Amino acid sequence: MFFSKSLRFNTNTAWSNTSRAFFYLSRASKFNFTNSTFFPLFSFLLNFGLMKETVVSGIRSTGKLHLGNYYGAVKNFIKMQEEYNCYFFIADWHSLTTHPTPENLHGNIKNVLVDYLACGLNPEESTIYVQSDVPEIIELYLYLNMNAYLGELERATSFKDKVRGNPDNVNAGLLTYPVLMAADILIHKATKVPVGKDQEQHLEMARTFGNRFNRLYNQEYFPEPYAFSYTEKLVKVPGLDGKGKMGKSEGDANCIYLSDTPEAIRKKVSRAVTDSGPSEENQEKPEAIQNLFDLMKIVSPADTLNHFDDLYNKMAIRYGDFKKQLAEDMIIATDPVRERINDIVNDNDYLQKVARLGAEKARESAQKTIKEVRQLIGFKSF
Ligand code: ADP
Ligand code: TRP
Repeated sequence: MFFSKSLRFNTNTAWSNTSRAFFYLSRASKFNFTNSTFFPLFSFLLNFGLMKETVVSGIRSTGKLHLGNYYGAVKNFIKMQEEYNCYFFIADWHSLTTHPTPENLHGNIKNVLVDYLACGLNPEESTIYVQSDVPEIIELYLYLNMNAYLGELERATSFKDKVRGNPDNVNAGLLTYPVLMAADILIHKATKVPVGKDQEQHLEMARTFGNRFNRLYNQEYFPEPYAFSYTEKLVKVPGLDGKGKMGKSEGDANCIYLSDTPEAIRKKVSRAVTDSGPSEENQEKPEAIQNLFDLMKIVSPADTLNHFDDLYNKMAIRYGDFKKQLAEDMIIATDPVRERINDIVNDNDYLQKVARLGAEKARESAQKTIKEVRQLIGFKSF
C-alpha cells in the first residue's frame, strides 16, 4: 500500500482514538505503567486491546535491502504497523564496526530509509528514525555496559563469526554490539522484535541485560523482549552461493536486492551454485540445491514448487528451467518495491520530513525512559 504524499503526514488517521488516548496517557503520565505497582493495570489495558504493545526493530545501514531482510524482517514490520506501537530504525551506529567512509555511511542510511518506505513502512503509523538521531540510546548503552560481562560477550555466536571472518578488526564496538542492540530495544520498552533467525541469540542477551538491570535496582522496569514473526518459525533466507544465509556482507552475487533490475536478477540466479543433478530417485537434496528450493518456496506459488520438486525426485529436472522460473518469480515479487524506490529516491524533502518526524517521536519516548532510568540508578540534579 502506498500513500499519497499529502496523506502521509496526517497523524490523526494513524491510531484509533482509544489507543491514542491511552498512548498519550501513558506517555504524559508521571506513572510508569510497566513497573510493579502498575503492572496489573498495564496487563489489563494490553489484554483488552486498550493499549498497544511496543515493537522495535532495525536494519544496519550497510547497503541496500535484500530478500533476506524483506522476508526475515520488513514483511513483518509492515503487517505489525496497525496492530502495534511500532519503532523501526536505521541502525547506523551498528554499521560503524566496519569503518564506512563518510560518503558511504550517509548513502547507505538513505538506501535503507528509501527501501523501508518503498516496502510500505508508513510514517503516519510507525515511528521511522535514524538511530544516531536519538542520543539517549547511547546513554542507556553505557548503563547496560556496566553489567555486561566479557565472558558472555565473547561467547556470542555473531562475535565469534566476526572474529573468525575478520581477525584484524576485533574492536570493542563489535564485542559490545549486543549491548547496543539491547539499548535499542529497551529504550522504548519493547516486547516484540521482528527479526530473522540469526538474531535469536541477541534477543536472549537483551532479556538478560534488561533483567539484570531490574534485579540490580529492584524494579520490574524493563519488560522482556522476544523475537517475533508471523510465520510459524523465524525466517532464514538462503543466499545464492550454495551455503549459508543471504547477507549484505556475503557479497553482491549472493544477494537479490529489492532494487535489482530484472536483468540483474536473471543474471545472478543463472549463476547460482548447482551440481550435476540427482543421481537417484527421491534423493536428499544437497545444501546448494535445497537453498534454491527454499528460495522458490518463498517467492513462488506452491504449484510451481511442487512441479519442480516432482521433477527433481524423478531425476527429470533441468536446472536451467528451474532457475529461469525462480528468477521470474523473484522479479514479480520485487516489482512493486522497485517501482516505488524509483519514485522516492530523489525526493529529498520527503525523506527529510520522514526522518525529522521520526527522530522527534523516538526521542520523546527515549527521553522518558532515560529520565526514569536515571532516577532508578540514583542520579539527582543539584
Ligand atoms: P545483513 O545480514 O544483510 O547485514 P542486517 O544484519 O542488518 O542485514 O539484518 C537486518 C534484519 O534482516 C535482521 O532482522 C535480520 O535477522 C534480517 N535478515 C538479514 N538477512 C537475513 C536472511 N538471510 N534471512 C532472514 N532474515 C535476515
Ligand atoms: N543486530 C541486527 C542485525 O544485525 C540489527 C539491529 C540492531 C536490531 N539493533 C536492533 C534488530 C534492535 C532489532 C532490534 O540484523
